[in-house]
Amino acid sequence: MVQFPRDFLWGAACASFQCEGAWDADGKGPSIWDDFCHESGGKNIKHGDNGDVACDTYHRYREDIALMKAHGIRAYRFSISWPRVIPDGDGAINEAGLQYYDNLVDALIESGIEPMITLYHWDLPSALQHKGGWLNRDIVTAFERYARLIAERFAGRVRCFMTLNEPQCAASLGYGIGIHAPGWKLSGECVARVYHHMALAHSAAQRAIKAVAPDVRVGVVCCGRMAYPLVDTPEGREAAYRASFDLSEEWAFSYNVFLDSLIWRRYDDSANAVLRRFAAEIPESDCLLMETPDFLGMNIYNGQPVDESGRPVPFPAGNPSTALKWPVTPEVMHYAPMHLHRRYGLPMIITENGLSCNDKVFLDGKVHDPDRIDFLHRYLTNLSMAIAEGTPVMGYLHWSFLDNFEWADGYSERFGLIHVDYETLQRTPKDSARWYAQVIASNGDVLNEVPKYGCV
Ligand code: NOJ
Repeated sequence: MVQFPRDFLWGAACASFQCEGAWDADGKGPSIWDDFCHESGGKNIKHGDNGDVACDTYHRYREDIALMKAHGIRAYRFSISWPRVIPDGDGAINEAGLQYYDNLVDALIESGIEPMITLYHWDLPSALQHKGGWLNRDIVTAFERYARLIAERFAGRVRCFMTLNEPQCAASLGYGIGIHAPGWKLSGECVARVYHHMALAHSAAQRAIKAVAPDVRVGVVCCGRMAYPLVDTPEGREAAYRASFDLSEEWAFSYNVFLDSLIWRRYDDSANAVLRRFAAEIPESDCLLMETPDFLGMNIYNGQPVDESGRPVPFPAGNPSTALKWPVTPEVMHYAPMHLHRRYGLPMIITENGLSCNDKVFLDGKVHDPDRIDFLHRYLTNLSMAIAEGTPVMGYLHWSFLDNFEWADGYSERFGLIHVDYETLQRTPKDSARWYAQVIASNGDVLNEVPKYGCV
């Protein structure tokens, strides 16, 4: 029987750069993603797409909030664009930018939707990148000041703040392999330094927010490799746990590279040599600065099945995959929250989960997306299994509410519950939006029936 706690928070998410547009409106400064899209003749992004207009939520947020309300969304996780509120990152404050988020937060609250703020979802002010970005330790002070500003402005209205989104991707894709902004291709040692500065920045921001508003909850949102047992036996579970946190080879795309440093204030001794060398140089005084978050945000998309010795088991031929060719692995939603809870013992929120489909407006004017309904049904059913086993997951935020700018893939990938026509900016709720509304209204009870995949 699929069941969710009575106060389970059902919602959806998006991020500033991916949906706001208005890239230079009302005093906003440029971000590294504006630069990354505009430079090299647009070659960094598929089809030369950019975030100049995106979904134009900067001007259309009221329409979008009305759609959220109509579909019963109870919480909305959005990010603040740092260069919209402090154009050069550590200088003058842009009141017009803050006013936009004031309006957004007030409109959400008026509609009965809980606003949840992410401070950093990758759009760093360009001026800070020119000083070295996350490689320069001065960023910690700038981030702390930014966090204090946001807490002072919003803490009376917002109860839940997330400092950083996926430091794993920001560090390894942005500074390691360079397929995300700022597009730098640096050594493993530099990537580790970026991580360390992000951990210090999270901690300084958490202290600053708590000093302003001791009662708010501060979390951090992570992603990374997660394994699940091919066969559910005690040995299989143990092997999957170990494989999920093994840093001996690939370390950069893992939950624990970041969370061990925050929560355990050290890295696992079994870590890869690059990370061990780096960790050995971190002074004790830095470790003492680390802050354990109040909760963990988990962005879960897929995982890796492993056998009882922890070896990855290849997917069978023809295994289902998403439009982005990511494997569909609902079991990860059962085991990943359990692994993280076992390791860190903190409450959690699924801050992102979803998939890209080849969605389009059909001849009947609707957007039929049975793949998304099927995917969500399976993942949410698995999430309820983790909860039934005592894992404290407080909420689920679907990625994403609207189709939006999918980073280096531009607008080709559609993750939304709501279809966006990027020519006209018209919004069309997909079948999955109506289905998700039923999930929310029944607190997950409809997951006990086989979904109606057709025209909902
Ligand atoms: C994680 C990121 O936080 C989000 O920005 C991205 O769009 C989704 N994953 C899908 O790739």
